[in-house]
Amino acid sequence: MRRILVVHGPNLDALGRREPSIYGTETLAQIDAKIVAAGARRDVEVVCRQSNHEGDLVTWIQEATGTFDGVLLNAGALTHGSLAIRDAVVLSGVPTVEVHLSNVDAREAFRRVSVLADVVVGRVMGFRGASYTAALTALLDRLDSE
Ligand code: DQA
Repeated sequence: MRRILVVHGPNLDALGRREPSIYGTETLAQIDAKIVAAGARRDVEVVCRQSNHEGDLVTWIQEATGTFDGVLLNAGALTHGSLAIRDAVVLSGVPTVEVHLSNVDAREAFRRVSVLADVVVGRVMGFRGASYTAALTALLDRLDSE
């Protein structure tokens, strides 16, 4: 059975009450339940984790090597500057998709910079919670075709 790790970064624990006009009204628990259900429909185990601490994300991405077939990564604001997370993605060697609820390219200039963009297999953004399930479908299709 394939296993997919979902990593949510800082402030994503506040979804539902955090800037709902940008991020929508779904809570992280509701989004996670939808990703897990979408995985189950394809006979895939999905494990979801969230932390506000950069080091937790680095450790989880490192630990994905050999234990997960792919990673969906929404590093939140760390997307725009964390070289430690970028290095962890490269080190892990696990196919990783960068995910965002909002369309970061249509927001402030600093959000248009992603230090992850060139080390991930693809990026999905702008569909609020559905960005994750779209990313899961795309990643599983890619893994199946390899
Ligand atoms: C985000 C976009 C980031 O710029 C922001 O800092 C977040 C959420 C998104 O999912 O749209 O925390 O990653």
